Amino acid sequence: MTMHRIQHISDIRTLTKNWRASHQSIAFVPTMGNLHPGHLSLVAEAQKRAEKVIVSIFVNPSQFGLNEDFATYPRTEEQDCQLLNAAGVDAVFLPSIDSIYPIDDQTVVNVTRVSQTYCGASRTGHFSGVATVVCKLLNITQPDIALFGLKDFQQFNVIQCLVRDLHLPITLVGVQTMREKDGLAMSSRNQYLSPQERIIAPTLYKTLCWAKDRLIAGCHFKTIENEAIQQLTHTGFDVDYFSIANQHLQPAQSNDQSFIILVAAKLGNTRLIDNINVNF
Ligand code: PAF
Repeated sequence: MTMHRIQHISDIRTLTKNWRASHQSIAFVPTMGNLHPGHLSLVAEAQKRAEKVIVSIFVNPSQFGLNEDFATYPRTEEQDCQLLNAAGVDAVFLPSIDSIYPIDDQTVVNVTRVSQTYCGASRTGHFSGVATVVCKLLNITQPDIALFGLKDFQQFNVIQCLVRDLHLPITLVGVQTMREKDGLAMSSRNQYLSPQERIIAPTLYKTLCWAKDRLIAGCHFKTIENEAIQQLTHTGFDVDYFSIANQHLQPAQSNDQSFIILVAAKLGNTRLIDNINVNF
């Protein structure tokens, strides 16, 4: 069966209506394209959990800041569609910017508290752009489940709040980060790294692993965070944050049983993020 390639909202609605009428469950994987094995692992997980899988490819302008990489974000639609077809995806949804943001569009979705810290503090408006487009895409596709990568842990938290607070009848699934052999988290932005930066980049994950060991050894949160920032800065990163938090992204307390260590740092012009879980 060849994959449906759909641009219009009315066509994806007709397709999903037919699937629902024949009692077939639907999983949805939203992406910005430029697909790598991390995205394909979301697709594989979606196929295990539902009868039909839709992937969207939409480089969402509203989640990029004025000085960010919207114009240069890698767009590889043909290659992406070939990969998705080979992976057995049922439909790819490729909406235009005008259809997602029609003239006189006035509605934004703002998930307040969880959008303000970490990446939200340095990327003003980013999570409002993410929440708005995800809400629109979920309303258009009306899936039973939607899958997101956990590399963007704060994004996953924002979307969990959105689905809960707006009472959307959708189950969210977070999928573990896929890594290169040297530990670097897979990301479309890795290709911006120069050969020299690419050699340094895995230090981000190595430092997270080091911090995890220190946390398990009982070291103080602030000491670990400060030493990690020093190590990364010494290696050539410009660190935005390196923080130990609880699973709801609030400051960690010493009696917590489960932590997430989060980092965002720039190497040259490339902003990288990553995280690691620690469970006691
Ligand atoms: O994680 C992404 O690729 C994007 O933020 C998403 C969820 C597709 C929304 O544009």
